[in-house]
Amino acid sequence: MRPADKSRSLTAKHPIRVWRRPCWAASRFDLGSGAPHILAMAILKIARMGHPVLTGRANEVADPTAPEIRRLVADMIETMEDSDGAGLAAPQVHVPLRIVVFQAPEERTDPGPPESERFDHTAPLTVLINPVVDVMTSELEGGWEGCLSVPGLRGWVERPLHVRYRGVDTAGAPIARTARGFHARVVQHECDHLEGILYPARMRDLSKLMFESEAHHWVAGEAARGRE
Ligand code: NI
Repeated sequence: MRPADKSRSLTAKHPIRVWRRPCWAASRFDLGSGAPHILAMAILKIARMGHPVLTGRANEVADPTAPEIRRLVADMIETMEDSDGAGLAAPQVHVPLRIVVFQAPEERTDPGPPESERFDHTAPLTVLINPVVDVMTSELEGGWEGCLSVPGLRGWVERPLHVRYRGVDTAGAPIARTARGFHARVVQHECDHLEGILYPARMRDLSKLMFESEAHHWVAGEAARGRE
């Protein structure tokens, strides 16, 4: 397990890095045998902080394999990609269901975990329906977060650095993983959406809530402190 202060300094080095994700092939999400016109995916409107859909508890998905769920998931992935997001929860697209999509690219864990921990730290594009998250440690790790429903802002959020989660995918197949680092952070952030919680509500120090366009001041301040 990486010491918290080490990862904090690494995070501070790249506080708000935005990465270009690879272009996921739509064909990997087989939407069924419907007419071609329903295979087209859509970019969905994202609910912003203040909309009631973001404040309630989302509902369980009765049938994760239903065609309308597969369609919704495909649209969520398209929407997440379009926004360069690391994750998206169904309530963010005005659908109060317990569905999240996310990815934890390896480059977010710069300089990278040892091979033995690599799987815990990174996740491929993942669809998780009816997720359950168990916190595995009381140890917290701070990191900068953003949210497509809170556009333009970044905030420093401390979260448990080791979690276990489970759920099913759109084929109904079970998914069970442990997660650390950014992987654990993105899972907790997305699953918080299913409880109506946005990351500012997790912040302990609101002086570290800032506009993305102003974050360079914080970066410069950290660099100056580092030279002291
Ligand atoms: Ni979010």
